[in-house]
Amino acid sequence: MRRQIIAGNWKMHMLTDEGRELAEALVGLGAEVPNVDVALCPPYTALTAVGAVLAGSKVRLGAQDVFWKEKGAYTGQVAPSMLVDIGVSVVIVGHSESRGRFGVPEPDMDDVVLAHFGDSDRTVNLKLKAARRAGLTVICCVGETLAEREAGDTDRVVTRQVEGALAGLDASTLDEVVLAYEPVWAIGTGKTCQTVEADRVCGVIRQAVGVLFGSDCAEAMRIQYGGSVKPANAAELLACPNIDGALVGGASLVAADFAAIVKAGPTAA
Ligand code: 13P
Repeated sequence: MRRQIIAGNWKMHMLTDEGRELAEALVGLGAEVPNVDVALCPPYTALTAVGAVLAGSKVRLGAQDVFWKEKGAYTGQVAPSMLVDIGVSVVIVGHSESRGRFGVPEPDMDDVVLAHFGDSDRTVNLKLKAARRAGLTVICCVGETLAEREAGDTDRVVTRQVEGALAGLDASTLDEVVLAYEPVWAIGTGKTCQTVEADRVCGVIRQAVGVLFGSDCAEAMRIQYGGSVKPANAAELLACPNIDGALVGGASLVAADFAAIVKAGPTAA
């Protein structure tokens, strides 16, 4: 059975003190739920403070993005080795927000704002490979927009994103890659993908991995669901055969809610 992994993506929330406090409330989960991998992904600015709280525990420290170059004149970017240097062991790449694909753009989110988030399948692939070279566990997000779903393109879009993200990767490095199915329209909207459909699309993603790397790799690949995961729907989602964890946004900012989600999985007891 695949080991479940629950990650909290704090997005652009939490000043240092707030992050430290939230981490202090959650650090015990590592010992309390030893059969589940747990990661907290604060913004870059809170990584060190949160890392100090998590040090010595089984709860892992994650970042929300990474650049693919090792060093150089790349103002504003953060290299994989810089994350490792401060104790980060997990990184999210290809989040729909980093790709400029928002489920509910805020009213002031015009084209200038959206163009700022320019990840493509190609840059996601570069980030994923660089992160793996540095030894980081990678959570790579894929998912369709509402327009793509309504056009009947869901399977094609997620398959293309998986192929793009994993292109050129050696199968031997895949054990530390986690895929996250995050339907864009379900992120931060309160609309969860129906459990049966979430499991089906995770199956499509698993199939795409199988075509690329063979059935053993596909069977071993951990695939999370993300998009309005809450304590109320977590158990049902995590019980699905193709869903091996959750990538949690809003609910990961509330200690009790995130802890309840971590404990909701079939192997948590
Ligand atoms: P919500 O849980 O807030 O919908 O966010 C999901 C997400 O984007 C996690 O990466």
